[in-house]
Amino acid sequence: MSQPHRLRGHILTYSGNPFVQGWESTVHVRENSAVLIADGKITATGPDAEAADAPETRYDDHLICPGFVDAHVHYPQTAIIASWGKRLIDWLNTYTFPEEMRFGDPEYAASVAARYLDLALAHGTTSLASYCTVHPLSVDAVFEAAAARGMAVVAGKTCMDRNAPDGLRDTAQSAYDDSKALLERWHGQGRAQYAITPRFAPTSTADQLHALGALWSEHPDVLMQTHLSEQVDEIAWVRTLFPQARDYLDIYEAHGLLGARGLYGHAIHLEPRERDRLAEMGAGLAHCPTSNTFIGSGLFDLSGLAGSGQPTGLATDTGGGSSFSMLRTMAAAYEVAQLRGTAVHPAALLWLATQGSAEVLHRADEIGQIAPGCAADLTVLNLASTPAIAQRHARADDIWDAIFPTIMLGDDRAIADVWVAGQSRHSGT
Ligand code: GUN
Ligand code: ZN
Repeated sequence: MSQPHRLRGHILTYSGNPFVQGWESTVHVRENSAVLIADGKITATGPDAEAADAPETRYDDHLICPGFVDAHVHYPQTAIIASWGKRLIDWLNTYTFPEEMRFGDPEYAASVAARYLDLALAHGTTSLASYCTVHPLSVDAVFEAAAARGMAVVAGKTCMDRNAPDGLRDTAQSAYDDSKALLERWHGQGRAQYAITPRFAPTSTADQLHALGALWSEHPDVLMQTHLSEQVDEIAWVRTLFPQARDYLDIYEAHGLLGARGLYGHAIHLEPRERDRLAEMGAGLAHCPTSNTFIGSGLFDLSGLAGSGQPTGLATDTGGGSSFSMLRTMAAAYEVAQLRGTAVHPAALLWLATQGSAEVLHRADEIGQIAPGCAADLTVLNLASTPAIAQRHARADDIWDAIFPTIMLGDDRAIADVWVAGQSRHSGT
């Protein structure tokens, strides 16, 4: 047992789902309180942590949050973030696929994986679920980089056997074989977890979807991640590719790719039947608001879906998304919800970026909250990190009014510290 260590500051804790039960009774800020950590885990919070005899790091007026959990990213798109002027399918063909080709080179894959995870940590993100490329070595690269940083990462080989360029296609059989080998190598190794990853219906044949559905049924404890109903043109194309399907979700279901451990990115333009079916299955959704505005996809129904209890997490969708920052992503979620007529409370935004995402990754017993037994993955927010935020913060009349300006205006400068499995990993400390 290593020596316990105390972090003192304002502590963010949860006792329920704010979208369903209301934020007042579920999200709590304990002002001037403490978290006790030992052996990479949280061992106590509140009075027990305050009373313990342990060396202390003081964060005074800062907010100690669970580390941010980014529920949907493409680490191989790090270098093409903020590429101009295209909508989804053209954006994939123009920017994304040429960049993903480069990941056949192990040195390039390793360098981008390291760069991406360092950027994530600098922005307060301690866990994430990433798509890799079609190349198995791109999966090794991100899991190796995550292990070097102690991070709990979910990742999988992106499978595509049509509508992608030469060099980026696998086959139904090789997708099955490579995914299975990677799953067996990585799932449960340290903090790594594997996700079966068909990119989306347009880039997989029915045979490939079927093969991956079979793999999932052989390994039902792993996550399956894919994209669903992101853009209207995409959905029209999907209809022509799978004319027998009732709707987009039906394609996944028909091939064994719908389940509670399914994580569906975007899910914007859903038919009533799809909403009902997702609800019945308790499937997870990844809301990617900066991506949905940047690529021009549409406005996700956050209050309708999360409010009805649909498991929902928050995600940057790097590099379709326009920011590595989960603070910026919370701000975009707020703005998108406003455009649909709802003002989401800052407590609910923080919950979505931590516990909500942890739940859709099925890792809520380990990450996404500050509670004894969870990993000591913590992000410390300076609530007055820039002159613009500080002057607004000075006007705050309660703790939530003090936090909201950092959600709306904050970026990596607001990240005062990041702890991963009990170790400080922030480049600035
Ligand atoms: N749909 C299929 N692939 C992708 C991708 O890489 N990014 C986004 N935003 N949508 C996708
Ligand atoms: Zn995506």
